[in-house]
Amino acid sequence: MSKTRVYQLAKELDISSKELISKLEEYDVEVTNHMSTLEDDIIEIIKELYKSNEGKSESMDSTEDENAIGLPESISVKDFCDKIGKTVTDVMTKLVSMGVFATINQEIDFETAEALALEFNIDVKLEGAEEEEAEYGIEDFEDDPKDLKDRPPVITVMGHVDHGKTSLLDAIRETNVTAREAGGITQHIGASEVYVDGKKIVFLDTPGHEAFTSMRARGASLTDIAILVVAADDGVMPQTKEAINHAKAAGVPIIVAINKMDKPGSNPDRVKQELSEHGVLVEDWGGDTISVPVSALKGEGIDNLLEMIVLAAEMQELKANPNRLGAGVVIEAKLDKSRGPVATVLVQKGNLKVGDPIVAGASFGRVRAMINDKGKNIKKANPSTAVEILGLSDVPNAGDTFNAVKSDKLARQIGEKRKAKFREANLNSTTKVSLEDLFMHI
Ligand code: GTP
Ligand code: MG
Repeated sequence: MSKTRVYQLAKELDISSKELISKLEEYDVEVTNHMSTLEDDIIEIIKELYKSNEGKSESMDSTEDENAIGLPESISVKDFCDKIGKTVTDVMTKLVSMGVFATINQEIDFETAEALALEFNIDVKLEGAEEEEAEYGIEDFEDDPKDLKDRPPVITVMGHVDHGKTSLLDAIRETNVTAREAGGITQHIGASEVYVDGKKIVFLDTPGHEAFTSMRARGASLTDIAILVVAADDGVMPQTKEAINHAKAAGVPIIVAINKMDKPGSNPDRVKQELSEHGVLVEDWGGDTISVPVSALKGEGIDNLLEMIVLAAEMQELKANPNRLGAGVVIEAKLDKSRGPVATVLVQKGNLKVGDPIVAGASFGRVRAMINDKGKNIKKANPSTAVEILGLSDVPNAGDTFNAVKSDKLARQIGEKRKAKFREANLNSTTKVSLEDLFMHI
């Protein structure tokens, strides 16, 4: 959490910043310039803790920012007086009492200005801090670079319906999922891990139907590289374009797999030309997007494709800290008759262990069991591992973030807070707000 917020919160709770910082540490919140996804939840919990202890009214909400006066990073004492509506004499007196000796034209930094404003019981905020906080709100604590270790790449397979995404993954896994699927259509995002030259690659399959567009959009932001499957006999189609847009919006590099090369009507040159019309320039068109001709059906070109994926992944130098509480994204979730809520999650940082208290979107619980893509029970999942987890209270939404937290109590508190907020948002708005939207804008 930022120092600015610590100041404000300590003031609001009428405790010292030092006490608040040690309380925050109990909840694993570091005082840095970065925000965590859990931070807002934890702040509320701490607020309630103090407010109920002191018997103050709980009706106070986090309105502190709305009434706060915006200040730049540095401001002259004179301008500061104008902004907060106090006389130069009052302000100078306070400044001196704080041990700051400045002239009225001298600039003071935001931290000083903030401490000064608090002396007058006035809330201030850094101008532009709201945007910054919204941005940080979807991030997690920043890791120390020395704690980062290499992690396997996460690849999403995207493309138009029936262009062969699932078949391509099958060819890669040398299994046969297509035959087992109802109607041969992938119903949800599945995940699988394969090894190429001893190096792990995680693949996420994505559904083909229009109705799953939003899911696919999430797919792109989960991944390091997007494999764009285009059938050589069909060319660029509406969902090919969508996939291109998603990948571009997420800043994810694309590798094109021109599939169904075995078909008589296949025309890879036409595919390349159509791709160029949509801003994807492959190498033999003078661009830098790799394209690989393949036949998922015959298993041709697959080795070449995998080689390109490994190369592209190596260039990204993907890293994560494996030694912290696990966090990542829910890929899919469902209610299983005998096992209860089941969520497939991708661990993106830290490690997730059986027994960990966890919160995923508004659902919470304790990881009762973890099953990997091969159906095996595992005890621990490191970064870039997709696992099915059991033990959640409800079914979270695909795209929700999840975090392992320090205690069952905290998981419950956060989950229940989010649920209440979700309900409130649903009541107060006519348009439907997804949980994800909600958390991105807290
Ligand atoms: P959705 O999940 O519905 O979007 O489809 P998908 O993109 O996963 O396609 P899928 O792998 O289910 O393949 C669709 C059809 O194309 C199936 O009948 C496959 O057998 C066929 N197919 C896939 N790849 C190839 C290929 O390389 N050559 C030929 N001839 N047929 C292929
Ligand atoms: Mg499929």
